[in-house]
Amino acid sequence: MIKQESIQNLKSIIDITDVIGNYVQLKKQGSNFSGLCPFHSEKTPSFIVSPAKQIYHCFGCGASGDAIKFIMEIEKLSYPEAIEKLAGMFNFKLEYTSKNSFLNIDLLDKVNSFYESKLFIKKEALEYLKNRGLFESTIEKFALGYAPSSNEQFKFFKDAHLNFEDLKKLGVLNETGEYPRLIERITFPIFSQNGKIIAFGGRTISNHPAKYINFTNTSIFNKSKTFYGLNFAREHILRSKEIIIVEGYMDVIMLHQAGIENAVATLGTALTGEHLPILKKLNPKVTVAYDSDNAGINAALKASKLLYKEYFEGGVVLFNEGEDPADAVKNGENLDNIFKEKIPFSNFIINFTLKKYNLKNPIEKKDALNEIKSYIATLPDILKEDFANKAAQYLQTSPALLKTRVSMQNQNINLNKKTDIAEAGIIKTLYENPQIMNSVVEYLSPEMFKTHSNELSAVYAENFEDSRLLEIVLRDDIKTLDLASLKNQIRKILIPYYQNKILQIRLDPKINGDKKIHLLKDMNLKLQKIKKGEFVEGISSI
Ligand code: UTP
Ligand code: MN
Repeated sequence: MIKQESIQNLKSIIDITDVIGNYVQLKKQGSNFSGLCPFHSEKTPSFIVSPAKQIYHCFGCGASGDAIKFIMEIEKLSYPEAIEKLAGMFNFKLEYTSKNSFLNIDLLDKVNSFYESKLFIKKEALEYLKNRGLFESTIEKFALGYAPSSNEQFKFFKDAHLNFEDLKKLGVLNETGEYPRLIERITFPIFSQNGKIIAFGGRTISNHPAKYINFTNTSIFNKSKTFYGLNFAREHILRSKEIIIVEGYMDVIMLHQAGIENAVATLGTALTGEHLPILKKLNPKVTVAYDSDNAGINAALKASKLLYKEYFEGGVVLFNEGEDPADAVKNGENLDNIFKEKIPFSNFIINFTLKKYNLKNPIEKKDALNEIKSYIATLPDILKEDFANKAAQYLQTSPALLKTRVSMQNQNINLNKKTDIAEAGIIKTLYENPQIMNSVVEYLSPEMFKTHSNELSAVYAENFEDSRLLEIVLRDDIKTLDLASLKNQIRKILIPYYQNKILQIRLDPKINGDKKIHLLKDMNLKLQKIKKGEFVEGISSI
């Protein structure tokens, strides 16, 4: 490990503009520097580096952080790797806590070879796998093995001179080092994306109550960021631009054996936000193929909500009641047909959310509506419309009904937010100069505010007794703006807003060719006008 003081010393000698200057052409702009953001494509600079604060921020895509974060993101490095890279750039000699803390992860290969050798001796284990439908070639490809008794394993560790500290750190032994994590189980080595063994899972063949045991997280293995089978599936995912996500080891293995080689599994956890960066890099269509039991369907619903919100195209496939993908392969079902009948995420979310309710009962229908609305509230603006329309159609209600309530829900969420001085300044100015409202409202809508959209709505609605609005207008530290500053503040909100919108539209797989071009043109035009200050015309003074 790198010593903490050493990291502090390094931080104090590096200058963020030098670091970023190696990657981005920076131009001085007041006390800051600006340039084209390296994290999203843009033609006009919205990427700012502040030497005083030693941070960068992109007003277009929101990327921000310090020099270390920048190197992590741009070079795709871990924290310690980024520190080492920075130290190299500045000829700085890092100090480490101890020389021999180097963790020998190749031990896992040795442990796996041992487990593999045991599988062919342990007849029941091998029989078990064959009965489940696995070919010997599949067992070899996935390097399955068998973890024997604790004694046998310790004997091997000693004979092979494996370092016990390392075995603990790698998860092979439990935290106290008293016993191996997997005992008398079939072993599934878990590979990193590039095929290195980083952990194991194990299945009982003797009805132990814990059917599977997975390694806990270690310094090289993070369950929530790993997909089982991705090392084998990667190429196929890139080629087919599709990924299939299943629940279990066996599902992956059986699908691959059946020739569906773009399948991966999460590891005993739900699909979480932490998995998304990996998926985004591969950028495939996603098929969620979970077990057809209640738990599986609920997990599929959660996964769909997450994926849809993040603009992934794809959907959910359902197997026969109680079946999972591994069973479907073994039962010789027509997989092509099953995978063809994918329910798009939005439809799946609507259908399975509403399924819980009896829509003929008005009270239940209202609850159903509310549940849908609270999901809509979490969606990016650009998806809200599409989703609300679909849901409304299903519920035979007006989309407006779904949307208006959304903004009311947002009100509650905003209650405890801090004050945003820029937004508050605009609000106070409008409150004190209601005559200019008509020109401003055309350009600035409440949804563009991050913090005080409700207060802005209140001013627009001339709801002057609104308590949150009063909280702002009564504060002395929030200043009323003159016309030039008002325009300037509004510009500062509008520019990133439209840049973001443009980015969202560009990335939205659901908007097709012509419509996308049209929308982008419209947005770009608006953005140009705003940049030139051609908005809020018609007021000459405040
Ligand atoms: P399943 O119970 O669906 O696994 O759990 P499976 O692969 O279908 O099991 P069998 O072998 O065919 O009976 C799905 C995944 O959840 C995790 C495992 O990662 C498993 O593959 N799990 C399940 C656990 O971690 N522990 C358990 O006790 C059960
Ligand atoms: Mn299963």
